[in-house]
Amino acid sequence: MSVELKSSRELEAMRLSGRVNAEVRALLMDAVRPGVTGLELDRLAKEAIAERGGEPTFVGYAPFGKPPYPGAICYSVNEELVHGIPNERALQEGDIVSIDLGVTYGGWVSDAAFTMAVGETSADARALLEATRDALWAGIEAAQAGCRLGDVSAAIGAKAQGRFGIIKGYGGHGVGRQMHMEPHVPNYGVPGKGLKLMPGLVLALEPMFSIGDPATEETDDEWTVVMSDGSLSAHFEETVAITEHGPEVLTRID
Ligand code: MF3
Ligand code: CO
Repeated sequence: MSVELKSSRELEAMRLSGRVNAEVRALLMDAVRPGVTGLELDRLAKEAIAERGGEPTFVGYAPFGKPPYPGAICYSVNEELVHGIPNERALQEGDIVSIDLGVTYGGWVSDAAFTMAVGETSADARALLEATRDALWAGIEAAQAGCRLGDVSAAIGAKAQGRFGIIKGYGGHGVGRQMHMEPHVPNYGVPGKGLKLMPGLVLALEPMFSIGDPATEETDDEWTVVMSDGSLSAHFEETVAITEHGPEVLTRID
């Protein structure tokens, strides 16, 4: 498998993209409240990216014959897992919403997502969010040069604790000049197996867990992925560089 390894100059350029991504995500997080719609959040994202001199990576994305993706964000509410197209659906107290954002800046892509509760939500939903977020950070921690991709995947999957479903059909990926690059990063795996992690490899890690059965399907819009059983699902993502000094999360400013 051929993977793109970034030089330190290239990583520096990716940090700038990651910073814009983090700033815009912070604005989106602040804007999430009962009554707001996906289209309003999408407009906010488009304006905030443009103000910072970036471009929304997802707009027009059309892999393998799919209709071009229209949004700057993916907006996936409750049983919608990922790739929900921003629409007029207004958020309600108790919903959980996943917002995924891609930014291209200076030709470099950063890809990151969060799921959050709208106001108060159920204890089950809170536990799902916590486990999925923990899985992302366990995966980041395992992304050490010299370790293997299976170590990252296994660290992510372990956080489902047999309590939550692990979505099998979607996962993380290499990222750089393009959004989806090799390698694919499953959210379950065997420690010690798979690609050896090298400094300069940049991965978008993105665990996805469900409360119920992990089977998914695509809706008629050809993008939105929903849980087949209608159960709640969560998704977190960061863009992470493997360096000699350990993993560096490029999509955070705090
Ligand atoms: N983080 C998502 C992924 O890697 C972003 C998808 S953008 C879309 O699948 F345009 F493809 F929806
Ligand atoms: Co991604």
